[in-house]
Amino acid sequence: MLIRLESTRDADRIHELQAAAFGQIAEADLAVALRAGGHCIPEMCFVAEIDERVVGHVVCSTGFVGDAPVAGLGPIGVEPNLQHDGIGSALMHAAIGAAEARHEPMIVLLGNPAYYCRFGFTPASDIGIAPPEEAWGPHFQSRALTHHDASLTGTYRYAEPFDQL
Ligand SMILES: CC(C)(COP(=O)(O)OP(=O)(O)OC[C@H]1O[C@@H](n2cnc3c(N)ncnc32)[C@H](O)[C@@H]1OP(=O)(O)O)[C@@H](O)C(=O)NCCC(=O)NCCS
Repeated sequence: MLIRLESTRDADRIHELQAAAFGQIAEADLAVALRAGGHCIPEMCFVAEIDERVVGHVVCSTGFVGDAPVAGLGPIGVEPNLQHDGIGSALMHAAIGAAEARHEPMIVLLGNPAYYCRFGFTPASDIGIAPPEEAWGPHFQSRALTHHDASLTGTYRYAEPFDQL
């Protein structure tokens, strides 16, 4: 497996892959809209390749806590017949490492805590970050990084294309 940065030539395959991973088109369209709107953080968008075929993809985009930019991770998807084989984990570690290299304070995401806890994610409310929708509760998680500033608290606002989900 090869993990590398997403490139524009991957766009069609990424759309197909995310739609297959989620079993619907919404997240695939979201990834397109994030890219088209300039919301993606290119250094934190990766694909996983096997035999030159893209089989996994993760997007990180810029959201905000107040005026402070904070990276939001997702969607992340792996080709259905290749799930549970470490590809998602490799993409997560790549995104977290890239975030550290950029001196990002934290990453937030919405997902199943049973999966994301293995990467150090905990309920975002633990560090004072509220989800955009209260009902998300502990499914809205954060991973504080080395350059985290404990005074950075408030409600998270995703990049605008998330509002269309
Ligand atoms: C979630 C996803 C990206 C993980 O990628 P992956 O390559 O399958 O994951 P890995 O092989 O690295 O990790 C597998 C482990 O994660 C667990 N896992 C995978 N998806 C999970 C989920 N949605 N909730 C809880 N646990 C999950 C597996 O049970 C397995 O656990 P184990 O190691 O204890 O057996 C992938 O399953 C996927 O594309 N799912 C459909 C799309 C989706 O739900 N994306 C995330 C939305 S938040």
